[in-house]
Amino acid sequence: MIGIDIASSKRFGTISKKDFKHWSKWYTKREWDYCFTFAMPAERLASTFAAKEAVIKAFEKKVKLGDIEIRRTQNGGPKVYIKGKQSSKVVVTITHDAGIAAAVALLKNV
Ligand SMILES: CC(C)(COP(=O)(O)OP(=O)(O)OC[C@H]1O[C@@H](n2cnc3c(N)ncnc32)[C@H](O)[C@@H]1OP(=O)(O)O)[C@@H](O)C(=O)NCCC(=O)NCCS
Repeated sequence: MIGIDIASSKRFGTISKKDFKHWSKWYTKREWDYCFTFAMPAERLASTFAAKEAVIKAFEKKVKLGDIEIRRTQNGGPKVYIKGKQSSKVVVTITHDAGIAAAVALLKNV
């Protein structure tokens, strides 16, 4: 199964780092801190959200937003963690440009 999602960074443009508590159903602290290492965190908030939505679709909604964490490896690529454990079953790829982020997730048949 595959999943896809797209998100505009406009939706995330007014979010401030200090608002974490309000957004903690959407993002883990690690994701939040990653997004706010960038000059334009809204792009990463959008890409991270798109990645999570793509994963939810790939899992046919059998995982919840709060179960998913998108971590970045040392080379910058995303890895999916489900309930804190790296999942070997699902891979996700992310892109963004001109204020739009998109992600595709693939759930492997293992
Ligand atoms: C890895 C590479 C392909 C990423 O391309 P990019 O256009 O910068 O990336 P995009 O803007 O499409 O997407 C960004 C996302 O790519 C993902 N990404 C970054 N590095 C990655 C990697 N090594 N592997 C997989 N995904 C990667 C990230 O998820 C990132 O989004 P995020 O920070 O929100 O998680 C690029 O950096 C690269 O190495 N290109 C090779 C050609 C080259 O050297 N070009 C530059 C000189 S001309």
